[in-house]
Amino acid sequence: MAANESNRKNRIIIFLLSTVVVALSLYFYMSSFGFKLPEGKHANWLKIPILVLSALLGYLGARALNAALFDFVFRIRRRYEAPTLVRNIFTLLAFTILFVLLFKYVYSDYDLGALFTTSAIFGVIIGLALQDTLGNFFSGISLHADRPFQVGDVIVVGQQKHTGVVEGITWRAIKIRTFQNHIVLVSNSNAAKEAIEVAPRDNLNARLVFFSTIYADSPAKTIHVVREAVRDADNVSERIKPIVRIRGLGDSSIDWEIKYWLEDYAKYNDTDALVRQRVWYALRRNGLTFAFPTRTLHVERAQPARPITAEDEIADRLSAVDVFSPLSSEELRQLATATAGHVFAPGETLIRAGEEGASMFVVHNGRVAVQVPDRGGPRTVAVLTEGNFFGEMALFTGEPRTANVVAMEETEVLEIGHDAMKHLFDTNPGLAESISWTIAERQADLAKGSAESAQTSLHETAGLLASIKRFFGLR
Ligand code: CMP
Repeated sequence: MAANESNRKNRIIIFLLSTVVVALSLYFYMSSFGFKLPEGKHANWLKIPILVLSALLGYLGARALNAALFDFVFRIRRRYEAPTLVRNIFTLLAFTILFVLLFKYVYSDYDLGALFTTSAIFGVIIGLALQDTLGNFFSGISLHADRPFQVGDVIVVGQQKHTGVVEGITWRAIKIRTFQNHIVLVSNSNAAKEAIEVAPRDNLNARLVFFSTIYADSPAKTIHVVREAVRDADNVSERIKPIVRIRGLGDSSIDWEIKYWLEDYAKYNDTDALVRQRVWYALRRNGLTFAFPTRTLHVERAQPARPITAEDEIADRLSAVDVFSPLSSEELRQLATATAGHVFAPGETLIRAGEEGASMFVVHNGRVAVQVPDRGGPRTVAVLTEGNFFGEMALFTGEPRTANVVAMEETEVLEIGHDAMKHLFDTNPGLAESISWTIAERQADLAKGSAESAQTSLHETAGLLASIKRFFGLR
């Protein structure tokens, strides 16, 4: 910063000094002719220093104008630096105009027109030879002036649909880094002729992901299930909820599209893949089915829906859960029949704090984290593994969920609903009491650190039992 500043100062001093030297030289030279243009035999030769010195002065003037215009006005009003090429062209134009005027003044009896005709012919020849280069050059200027995209934006350009992140715009080409980490250079003149699709970095850009389900599946359920599964996936923006909608009714499938918005568009390949993964798990968990070719579809639909885990296995798992220890094997079997298995992907939220809930879960395979909202983000208060249960608080008391429960790896859980529990309470009155103890323990766990936690737990057990009885209509 400081080096830049002293450089700037030096440049201004050199500029002022040279202006003074040139102006003084012109002054003394002109004074020797009484401030008139030389006349006589060698007048043309004597005029050369005048033309050179005044042209130099003109050049310095053009530079000063350039600095005034671009360093101050342009930067302050438009808040970005003018491209170097635009500045150079400005100086060149201003200088050419000045030079032509000076030349006409000093050598008034020479015809500049003739000079231009000859130079115009040269210009045409050079122009033809440099057609492509000049094309790129001018397209580069228009790209810089328009600024349709910036470094860091994702663009799709050219007939071959080159896609990648813009790394730079030179006077010859746009440099793109593709998602295969290759560099593609698209010449400016080609880019100027083609449509360019831009996904600006500071913009919420959307993506579409497609999938198909069978006709037997409910569209309303599919929309809900897929949207919930997709919304908290990594890099899916929380600012706009994903949209799930029917794209078409195909021969053997309902065709869907998911429109979602990304935080970082450059990672859309990974995010698309994650969204598809979430859809797979969500459909499977909720008994929805991806569409297959019609022949396969008939075979699939002829079979009854297959539970993820066999009933015996579920009954075994439930018998090892402490809240269900008072149940007889017949009751366990009944409970297993009413239990549904679900598979969650790593990172998926099974339960959200504050939401209503009418079921509890037993971890059958995998691991989940219980998280409570905290100032610096969710804080994990417990990790539950095979045989542990959660979600009982809302199920038994009707209160909103007290914590988030998130899958730490692919996790299969067994869901036990309100109706199944009500049936058990009706047949086994002692169960309500043992469950209220367990819930009280959990709540004491939450309030850990407080001195009265042990007493609170005793006191709360009675309160909980009363609320379970009330909520389930027990006597
Ligand atoms: P529920 O409130 O229905 O939903 C969130 C669940 O997280 C809650 O029931 C409990 O099952 C579980 N939970 C809350 N706090 C803890 C904790 N401290 N230890 C273990 N599990 C908890």
